[in-house]
Amino acid sequence: MSTIDTNMFEPESAILPLLKGTAIDGMAAYEALVKKAQTDRLGFWERLAREHLTWRRPFTKVLDDSNAPFFKWFDDGTLNASYNCLDRHLQDGNADKVAIVFEADDGNVTTITYRQLLARVCRLANALHERGIGLGDRVMIYLPMSIEGVVAMQACARIGALHSVVFGGFSAKSLHERMVDVGAVAVITADEQMRGGRNLPLKSIVDEALTMGGTDDVHTVVVYRRTGGSILWNATRDCWLHEIEAAQPDTCEPEWVSAEHPLFILYTSGSTGTPKGVQHSTAGYLLWTSVTMKWTFDIRSDDVFWCTADIGWITGHSYICYGPTAIGATQVIFEGVPTYPNAGRFWEMIAQHKVSIFYTAPTAIRSLIKASESDKTVHPRRFDLRSLRLLGTVGEPINPSAWEWYAREVGDGRCPVLDTFWQTETGGHMIAPLPGATPLVPGSCTLPLPGIEAAIVDETGVELPNGQGGLLVVKKPWPSMLRTIWGNPERFRHGYYPPELGGNLYLAGDGAIRDPETGYFTITGRIDDVLNVSGHRMGTMEIESALASNPLVAEAAVVGRPDETIGEAIVAFVVLKGPRPTDAEAKKIADQLRAWVGKEIGPIAKPKEIRFGDSMPKTRSGKVVRRLLRSVAKGEAVAQDMSTVENPAVLHQFSEHV
Ligand code: WTA
Repeated sequence: MSTIDTNMFEPESAILPLLKGTAIDGMAAYEALVKKAQTDRLGFWERLAREHLTWRRPFTKVLDDSNAPFFKWFDDGTLNASYNCLDRHLQDGNADKVAIVFEADDGNVTTITYRQLLARVCRLANALHERGIGLGDRVMIYLPMSIEGVVAMQACARIGALHSVVFGGFSAKSLHERMVDVGAVAVITADEQMRGGRNLPLKSIVDEALTMGGTDDVHTVVVYRRTGGSILWNATRDCWLHEIEAAQPDTCEPEWVSAEHPLFILYTSGSTGTPKGVQHSTAGYLLWTSVTMKWTFDIRSDDVFWCTADIGWITGHSYICYGPTAIGATQVIFEGVPTYPNAGRFWEMIAQHKVSIFYTAPTAIRSLIKASESDKTVHPRRFDLRSLRLLGTVGEPINPSAWEWYAREVGDGRCPVLDTFWQTETGGHMIAPLPGATPLVPGSCTLPLPGIEAAIVDETGVELPNGQGGLLVVKKPWPSMLRTIWGNPERFRHGYYPPELGGNLYLAGDGAIRDPETGYFTITGRIDDVLNVSGHRMGTMEIESALASNPLVAEAAVVGRPDETIGEAIVAFVVLKGPRPTDAEAKKIADQLRAWVGKEIGPIAKPKEIRFGDSMPKTRSGKVVRRLLRSVAKGEAVAQDMSTVENPAVLHQFSEHV
């Protein structure tokens, strides 16, 4: 990569020391790999795929791009993801290595070895098979953070069924919508989940979703008994996980699937329409989760890895369920929340389990900074964090001051901080520092990983020079990219390979800029109507539709407002069917609407603020002027040119808080 001058980094700009002896050790090694990937792209990926995956039938062809952008990788090879994540470690001397250290919300700790994990996966796989579930069937997973979550996902992979995990914070309606779209035949859930000392329902939400219609194909609901809370029971459909597991042998021949067989479908928000089912492949996806565990996280046999994401998101898929197991690591899985019983929980757990690699979201860091400022007893310096050697972040931009605090107060200035940029669609890290190679700069995810050809282009697809902001694209296909949108290939093609950019560039949906001197990338945020609230992706359209479906509401528009702690806060502008509420009424109606959105989508989508006006500010052609609403949400004076706005007076109403 000619744009990088490795000599330009002054020692003081590389704030943190790099690690020695890592998988990619030094900038020269990085550049050599980048060059190799550019000059012999297929050879580069072929070597990685042979080295990192165990194949049943080796592939003979690396890439089939005859039907671009529907790329196929290693297509004639066969393998099984669960075999790669579990069985392999019984042969490489790691059978009795701890795979998962599970810490429950109440602090209770359970461990499971690779041998035991494989046995549980096989038992559940057999039980699912016995119920007629197999190759290509779709299984919903609606579980709390648990060993069982990993068991359920891996059991699906073992029999070639596709899992679709839904985050436990989503409502019955959201679950239902996904269940119908994916055409599920079974659901794996729990009676309840425990978070922050509270029991929250899961099974009853599944029951509710199953009464909403269009789910007649769901013939089995497997229930993990987490709390023993009371639930309703449908004897023909429901079964206890522990009972069906107990009735099965602990071996199960894996279903050897083709490399391109879908491993899972995970729903995520787009700028328009309903959430989209991002479909990932088996081989390409698994390959990149393993490779990035080595390259980015420099994982070694004695590491204790902890990714705090939920399995309901891609980070939990790639860096809990698949990456760490494929590589045979020991990992921590945590059921609860970072602030219970107090905001020292993360640090206490790192100390207790001797975590060496810690991966979390900027939102969590920012909220823990705040908490430690008001309560010194939960400050990370109060805990023994000497086991840490690497720190990572994901999900949203990390502001330099939070990055520095993380590096200094948590990492004691010893641990590289890896700001990893990637997406549900990319399967694994795309732009991220390598802990033994890349000089770190706060606020930048630095450089693309070898094999990933990221660039910044203008709206016509023309590459921009460093220093000029534009659209982030990936120029060449890579194995772990999404294959399509479930049931909607056109949405995939148009959304990710837009014709305006020439049809051959993957459009990430983020804006970015490269440093003029170093070529380092900084992500400047989404270019579409997707919000990033506490690192969770939310479509403004989804929240608007939820609000508009309330009988009181005539029209709604939703925008994001930058927020110091959660990244972006949801601000909703609402026009009621009746008159604009008085201040006293407004608060009550706002609470009602918030609860409504919680029920429609889930608590994470509740607007932080709701403001009311007589009408929606629109252009003369009837388009809502979101640009102005964004300024209003930020509290900026509405001094912009309003000649195009039909009803500017309403902006003053919307400027008022309730
Ligand atoms: C944002 C999460 C800045 C970005 C793995 C992206 C980031 C979206 C970073 C994907 C980062 C993720 N710096 N922004 N390091 N990582 N994002 O699909 O807007 O939940 O498009 O995947 O999060 O979110 P998703």
